[in-house]
Amino acid sequence: MRARPLMFALAALSLAACVPTPAPTGAADYAAYCAACHGPGGKGDGARAYGLAKPPPDLTTIAVRNQGAFPRAQVMTQIWGYARATPTPGMPGFGALLEGETVLYDSGDGILTPTPLRLVQLMEFVAGL
Ligand code: HEC
Repeated sequence: MRARPLMFALAALSLAACVPTPAPTGAADYAAYCAACHGPGGKGDGARAYGLAKPPPDLTTIAVRNQGAFPRAQVMTQIWGYARATPTPGMPGFGALLEGETVLYDSGDGILTPTPLRLVQLMEFVAGL
């Protein structure tokens, strides 16, 4: 008799274990890795922004500052960090954190390049800020 609730609990637990953990989204990665400096809305007003030698730029004006075109490849490069010999003074590189599943992505040069999915999702999230 008493075994029944336990059985249910075990069944529920094993079911929960089978549900795959959802892949992080651009929004989740932004909140985890970027908002501290760039602010929750990308305005450059995160809690960590104030102590930095170089202030984090306002990510909501990137397209405006680039003649209206959001520079997808450049932004992914900035996030990834591979184009810099050493990370820029203010911003660390996040490439290693965003590795994993890749997608074929054309960031504007007409070439489909295998690109980490999380990097694309994060860049698209920033583009939408
Ligand atoms: C430690 C603070 C800090 C964190 C965390 C941080 N950034 Fe930055 N970010 C900066 C600073 C400072 C700059 C100015 C350029 C530089 O120093 O690299 C910058 C520049 C940028 C730029 C270029 C903006 C422009 O105007 O062209 C983008 C895009 C960007 N960050 C996106 C991100 C994303 C996305 C994340 C999360 C993965 C992130 N940053 C995490 C501090 C940070």
